[in-house]
Amino acid sequence: MWFKAFSLARLRREQRCVIEHADQELLVLELDGVIYALDNLCPHQAMSLDHGLLDPEDLTLTCLHHHWCFRLNDGQGTNNRARVRTYPTKVEAGAVWIEVEE
Ligand code: FES
Repeated sequence: MWFKAFSLARLRREQRCVIEHADQELLVLELDGVIYALDNLCPHQAMSLDHGLLDPEDLTLTCLHHHWCFRLNDGQGTNNRARVRTYPTKVEAGAVWIEVEE
């Protein structure tokens, strides 16, 4: 199911947006015109990822707490075996949409 998250203008203004959907927090960000959406929850100790360190070359996000690192495109850990759930995104009529399971 696709749901309308917020405007693309808001994402560009704030750079990282956290949105709640069905009791989950999703982190949404844009890098080089690609919009990524992932659980805002580190699988290590369930801390938030939204203040994590972005690497725009490797397209990874590193949790600030203990430095577990995850690929933005599929959520796979690069220095651990964990994975963060990721979600398809699209832009329609100036809004960011995210696809989640019902
Ligand atoms: S809580 Fe994220 S690496 Fe430990």
